[in-house]
Amino acid sequence: KNEISIGLLGLGTVGSGVATILQQHQQDLHHKLGVPVSIKKVLIKNENKERFSTLDPSVFTTNAQEILNDPSIDIIVEVMGGIEEAKQAIEHALRAGKQVVTANKDVMAEYGHELLKLADAKKCDLFYEASVAGGIPIIRTLEDGLASDRISSLMGIVNGTTNFILTKMKQENMSYEVALAEATRLGYAEADPSADVDGVDAARKMVILSSLAFSTEVHLSDVLVRGMKEIRDGDMDLAEGFGYTMKMVGSSKKNQDGIEVAVEPVFLANSHLLASVNNEFNAVYIYGDAVGETMLYGPGAGSLPTATSVVSDIIAACRNLLLEVNGKRLHAAQHDRVIKSANH
Ligand code: NDP
Ligand code: HSE
Repeated sequence: KNEISIGLLGLGTVGSGVATILQQHQQDLHHKLGVPVSIKKVLIKNENKERFSTLDPSVFTTNAQEILNDPSIDIIVEVMGGIEEAKQAIEHALRAGKQVVTANKDVMAEYGHELLKLADAKKCDLFYEASVAGGIPIIRTLEDGLASDRISSLMGIVNGTTNFILTKMKQENMSYEVALAEATRLGYAEADPSADVDGVDAARKMVILSSLAFSTEVHLSDVLVRGMKEIRDGDMDLAEGFGYTMKMVGSSKKNQDGIEVAVEPVFLANSHLLASVNNEFNAVYIYGDAVGETMLYGPGAGSLPTATSVVSDIIAACRNLLLEVNGKRLHAAQHDRVIKSANH
């Protein structure tokens, strides 16, 4: 292969960050991979929208088939959001033998098991690092970095929008409505922010993390979800008075009956490390039998931080393309799950 072409589905907060990194780091990527990597086509919805991208508008299309059926496109990067259309696009791409990178936790939480099996069958990559905790490499840490360990539990802040709102309410006395509007303006909130504030976005991320950590199929219906509505007037002041901070926390642990997963508002002692994770930042504690306790911290949402994870996945898919090993090296946890489900 002497060049790699990308079809980008979506040019919003994340997609424009991906385009920026691919353009600004073009030389480094060429140097790293030995071949040029470029965006060949971009799917958009609204042709009249003002865009600040430096991409040539001739690459824009409103027809997904034009990208998915283009045989010269090697990697499909799905950053359009939503569930059914995005899932169909990913499926179509995998069936056509293309590598896929997605930031879509909605799709991965709902259909990840099925799509990973399809990717396995088609010997294609399906990478989704950006789907949880934006710029934090949490998926690879669970798949590779801690593959040797037996994980007993996870606990963390995995939604940037709600953490941003709670931080602004506490530190700047901002109202809930103003803080949510600001999180939306900054590109942290979902297209429908009720997914953030009702805890569903965090629940989807906990489904993905728990499935990986415990090499099993965890589903959204398994998660106990309590959103920000559960926080009553006065709760935050009460917490402050006693030296606590209110945070939306995701937790997941293994017990005799299976995997217990929850997302809920929690009072954390101010001395707890998660209590000082502020704004759109995320952090995840992982407890392993051998490693003990380890914590990853970083930006959980936003254009460039999230795009960093997407582009790292693109690089992984490019390397596999150049070595002609796409899908052959299923990541450990993904492989465990494929084996487990084949045996059941
Ligand atoms: P945006 O709403 O900012 O962007 C979505 C893009 O996809 C837009 O360019 C839009 O086109 C295009 N699009 C959406 N639907 C269609 C469609 N049916 N046909 C054609 N084009 C379509 O979303 P984000 O960039 O914020 O999020 C993208 C994905 O990344 C989501 O799955 C989200 O959950 C995930 N994510 C987001 C993070 C963030 O911080 N924002 C962090 C981590 C993951 P147009 O521009 O014309 O409107
Ligand atoms: N809406 C999500 C959040 C984006 O606020 O965390 C990152 O997944």
